[in-house]
Amino acid sequence: MSLAAVYDHTAIPDNFQPHVETAAFKNSMRFLAGAVSVITVGQGPELTGFTATSVSSLSADQPSIIVSLNRSSSSWPAIQRYQSFCVNVLADDQQHVADNFAGRGGVKGPDRYEGASWQKLATGSLALVDALTALDCELEEAIERHSHSILIGRVRAITTRAEAQPLLYWHGGYRQLSNQTAPTGGR
Ligand SMILES: Cc1cc2nc3c(=O)[nH]c(=O)nc-3n(C[C@H](O)[C@H](O)[C@H](O)COP(=O)(O)O)c2cc1C
Repeated sequence: MSLAAVYDHTAIPDNFQPHVETAAFKNSMRFLAGAVSVITVGQGPELTGFTATSVSSLSADQPSIIVSLNRSSSSWPAIQRYQSFCVNVLADDQQHVADNFAGRGGVKGPDRYEGASWQKLATGSLALVDALTALDCELEEAIERHSHSILIGRVRAITTRAEAQPLLYWHGGYRQLSNQTAPTGGR
């Protein structure tokens, strides 16, 4: 293929959008399959937390991870106050925990922890006993960008659970690793 062909603007597909609208961006993100985690924050009556797919490894030489948190969430003031959080990567039998931490049905604060077992590791944030893996983190930095804060967590303790499958989120619904076919039509 010649360079001229590569830069031929007539080759731009019909569905290319030069001005990206929020709705187009949200629709694009539906194609990004993600592992589902719950991020636990706070202590005692100030326990809260959120379900997240925005977890990613930052570096291994200084074990650290990043998570994006909407600053309108109840977790944001708790993160600022307690300076720690625990990332709990969910197994495919823990969708009820994901629902609780997403606030489904109006579940708030400490009530989000009901129906599961928790333990303290290093920081005081609660780790899900049966998480696929739990990473207990000190908050290293919170970088405020747009509506969210990018939380950088320095990992202080880890647990893992052998022989379990991950809970995934894709195209607006929870999924399991096996037997997935691409959705047809719709959003
Ligand atoms: C599958 C899924 C993934 C989510 N990922 C994120 C995320 O990465 N960051 C975030 O701030 N909120 C995310 N949310 C939304 C939060 O879980 C939800 O807004 C939060 O629990 C509500 O918090 P509040 O009621 O404590 O304010 C996600 C929700 C779902 C269902």
